[in-house]
Amino acid sequence: LDNGLALTPPMGWLTWQRFRCETDCANHPNECINESLIKSMADQMASKGYLEAGYEYIIVDDCWASKERDMHGRLQGDLERFPSGMKALADYVHEKGLKFGIYGDYGNFTCGGYPGSLQYLETDAMTWADWGVDYLKLDGCYVELEGIDQGYGMMTKFLNQTGRPIVFSCSFPAYVGIKANLSAAVEYCNLWRNYGDISDTFEDVKDIADWFGDNQKQLMPFAGPGHWNDPDMLLIGNFGLSLEQSKHQMTIWAILAAPLIMSVDLRAISDESADILQHPKLIRINQDPLGIQGELVKIDNEIHIWQRIIQGNNPDNTCKALAFASYRTDGTIYQYNFKVSEFLKYNGSFVIQNIWRKSEMKKSSDETITARIPPSGVELFIVCPLNE
Ligand code: GLA
Ligand code: GLA
Repeated sequence: LDNGLALTPPMGWLTWQRFRCETDCANHPNECINESLIKSMADQMASKGYLEAGYEYIIVDDCWASKERDMHGRLQGDLERFPSGMKALADYVHEKGLKFGIYGDYGNFTCGGYPGSLQYLETDAMTWADWGVDYLKLDGCYVELEGIDQGYGMMTKFLNQTGRPIVFSCSFPAYVGIKANLSAAVEYCNLWRNYGDISDTFEDVKDIADWFGDNQKQLMPFAGPGHWNDPDMLLIGNFGLSLEQSKHQMTIWAILAAPLIMSVDLRAISDESADILQHPKLIRINQDPLGIQGELVKIDNEIHIWQRIIQGNNPDNTCKALAFASYRTDGTIYQYNFKVSEFLKYNGSFVIQNIWRKSEMKKSSDETITARIPPSGVELFIVCPLNE
């Protein structure tokens, strides 16, 4: 969507993966979707380095709304869980230097059964803009799929008419499937979900990575500044991934030019997980200004090799991020030998950085390099021609 926003993949935090539709604040006061949850996450984002690292949007997913619209037909926050109102919450988030995002649904109801926007697209666009919403995730439950892309286009028009810059995250491609009209997505949306919901397991990380690899020919041409494929949230810091698997997800998401949307309890996250989420070189790859989505190059001995073209230090040349992701089950570090000449047409010396191990070497293109990949882990390199 050509609205000047999301020129690199959006970065932020979203309630859904970690907090789902928890509305029982009496029994789960620290884990229910309410204004104090959002405020405390905003505090963490602003004070613990996330905002500085680039994580900017804090987004309330489903289950924030009252089941009843107000007397003017406008959406309103649940009166018990958001007693100060949604505008006050957006103000709080803005005072922290963050941006505020919200969730709606194009259909009759949200996936969690809260009011949908179908008969209210214009009203809801105006309401959200009045509150100071900077990012809208518009889901696609309870919708007739026929013509859904054009329906989202109506919402794009209404959002535009508010005059407020709002990142628009669409869901229709995920509901339509791989045959979805991604040209329409590029025109109407800043990002869009392509595939099913992630949950807190490494199997899901692999399943999503596989699906993006299998369908990369259809997906890659549609990614670029202002419009991104979205493989769903980062799981890092939750229950399901080991640290190696966390690096694995972060690496693949960086290669895919994926939105980096965390969903974790930032009050309770370990330092190691926070370091993975905030790793400057990973974020630098993810946010590369060329905005070219990376690809799966080959699968060799259950090592999935991904590459992404990124901008070099010198504007005349490009570098490559190379990732070696292991799905081996033989249970220890696996040594994978390669030469840069297999990936980069350049006869000369180059600088190779090992991103997770934080080392750097100078090599010639036909020297052998060894990636040492932990089980279900990953090695990630940036290779750049050395211009002497
Ligand atoms: C759908 C979406 C999820 C989440 C839930 C909320 O399943 O894909 O990301 O927004 O709805 O109900
Ligand atoms: C309901 C509405 C229809 C249509 C469908 C979509 O049935 O009455 O107008 O929006 O939902 O699922």
